[in-house]
Amino acid sequence: MTTTTATRKRKATGAASGDAAARKGPRRLLAGVSKGGCGKTFLSRSLAVCAAAMDGLDVAIADFDPQRSTVRWVSRRPADAARITVYDVDIGSEADMREILDLTAHDLIIYDPPPTIESFPEQLQRMIVASDLILVPTNDCIDDYDQACEFMEMVRSYGKPSAFVLNQIDRRATTITREAKQHLVGFGDLCPFEIPTSVDQKHAAKLGRAITEIRGATGREEVVGVWAFARTRLGMGG
Ligand SMILES: Nc1ncnc2c1ncn2[C@@H]1O[C@H](COP(=O)(O)OP(=O)(O)OP(=O)(O)O)[C@@H](O)[C@H]1O
Ligand SMILES: [Mg+2]
Repeated sequence: MTTTTATRKRKATGAASGDAAARKGPRRLLAGVSKGGCGKTFLSRSLAVCAAAMDGLDVAIADFDPQRSTVRWVSRRPADAARITVYDVDIGSEADMREILDLTAHDLIIYDPPPTIESFPEQLQRMIVASDLILVPTNDCIDDYDQACEFMEMVRSYGKPSAFVLNQIDRRATTITREAKQHLVGFGDLCPFEIPTSVDQKHAAKLGRAITEIRGATGREEVVGVWAFARTRLGMGG
């Protein structure tokens, strides 16, 4: 397993949250759903950046995707950006799995599973068991949220704190979004902030940044809201 970090050490601005997390060891968040392309990686990076840049937390992302897109993303991160550590994890390697699940460094570790996570049921189960919170990103298209609901049922059978996060919604399609929400709340908790499709995401990705680091970016405030929700659910203070 290899590690990549963007360079800057940022002074903590939310010392109380960071100290609390440090006392109790790392919190672990899984951004998981079996359907591909729903925003697991987007959410992982966005929340990692919020936690590091806004709260001064020591944050790591475990990139389980063999395409290593987050490993490459962090290598593009500018020197003045809040530091994120990214672990390049081979999900098929028992040594890597043990190392990442047993990691005691960092305030927050975010697991970003690969698109084919359903092919690794044992590894997924171990990630769920290790996590303090599971966020299930989903679009408001029925093809997506049907699968997200199935995934949520499985997650909830472990008794873990969890919530859906609506992502890539079209703000104009209010009926579609409302119907999706009505369906989702029958299966689990729903984060009160829904993230729109952001025209700024491609620009942010190219710069090794998250949309929260782009002034005036579409979806910025919603992502900050999702982080506020996740932080409370992780017991990292409000
Ligand atoms: N809110 C958003 N606004 C704009 N683009 C988004 C948003 N969320 C995700 N995307 C884009 O959609 C694509 C899929 O998102 P992402 O890679 O996060 O999904 P994923 O669940 O990690 O996919 P995979 O299963 O392949 O790992 C990416 O190109 C990403 O940049
Ligand atoms: Mg991904």
